[in-house]
Amino acid sequence: MTPEEQNKALEAWQTSARYWDKYRVLIAQMFAPLTAGLVEEARIGIGQKVLDIGGGSGEPSLTISCIVGPTGSVMYTDPVAGMVETAQAEAGRRGLTNIYFRQCSADDLPFADRTFDVAVGRLSAMFFVDPVTAVREALRVIREDGCVSLVVWGPKEVNPFFSTVTDVIDRFVEGTPLDPDAPDAFRFAVPGKLAGILENAGAKNVIERQLNFQIKAAISFEQFWQLRTKMSGTLREKMAGLAPTQLPTVKQAVADAAWRYFESGTMSFPAQALIVSGRKSAA
Ligand SMILES: C[S@@+](CC[C@H](N)C(=O)[O-])C[C@H]1O[C@@H](n2cnc3c(N)ncnc32)[C@H](O)[C@@H]1O
Repeated sequence: MTPEEQNKALEAWQTSARYWDKYRVLIAQMFAPLTAGLVEEARIGIGQKVLDIGGGSGEPSLTISCIVGPTGSVMYTDPVAGMVETAQAEAGRRGLTNIYFRQCSADDLPFADRTFDVAVGRLSAMFFVDPVTAVREALRVIREDGCVSLVVWGPKEVNPFFSTVTDVIDRFVEGTPLDPDAPDAFRFAVPGKLAGILENAGAKNVIERQLNFQIKAAISFEQFWQLRTKMSGTLREKMAGLAPTQLPTVKQAVADAAWRYFESGTMSFPAQALIVSGRKSAA
């Protein structure tokens, strides 16, 4: 990524921050199984010191802060000022006192060696500028017996929460073919790819698990449409490429593709993620 591309990506996240804040309750519900998966995989418990990399509007930091309790702590990190502000404001509203905030990128963590027990990242590893350097950094700042756990999306084909919208829009907007290693939600969808990154970075006992779950919330198609078209910078950019007259046709085509995932006021999409974990030292 060139420095210009990096700035553009961070600006897009800065714009996304207000929508991730606006939809925070829904996001927390929809992606709760991912947090639960990370907590289980990294064996997070009372008293631990946890690093969250790319914490966005606050997850999994906010949930983990309650799990580790007053004898533990969470260090939330994200390179985007707007994300840090919204996450910090939410922690304040909840009166959480064991959570700390730093604005920084995954590949340059401003912490001393062996500061944390565990490092986690929920849906952020796909956007790291240099994933091997980022994982090396995560390994550096955890204890010798610590682990790193990252959760990323599985293939687009088994994630209709995304594909129902993007497949339609891609029929209308010509895009440049994506470099498979460029930051993107599906950058690590191929099994083994993120595990290989952890191994290259020096992690031991690397394990990849598939997590199948439902993305569920009590929302209508209209609310889903609003949320999906606002939360992602890539999608906002593609939508901006549509002529205003095309918009109703695109929306109707997405509604036709998505109707089966909406029933009695509830949205429920099957989804697949991969949780990839590695240890600093061999067990
Ligand atoms: C899809 S959001 C996930 C946010 C949150 N963890 C969640 O699951 O709700 C991706 C996050 O990665 C962050 N991010 C982008 N580039 C990053 C980098 N180089 N290092 C760390 N985080 C990054 C973005 O700012 C954004 O907050």
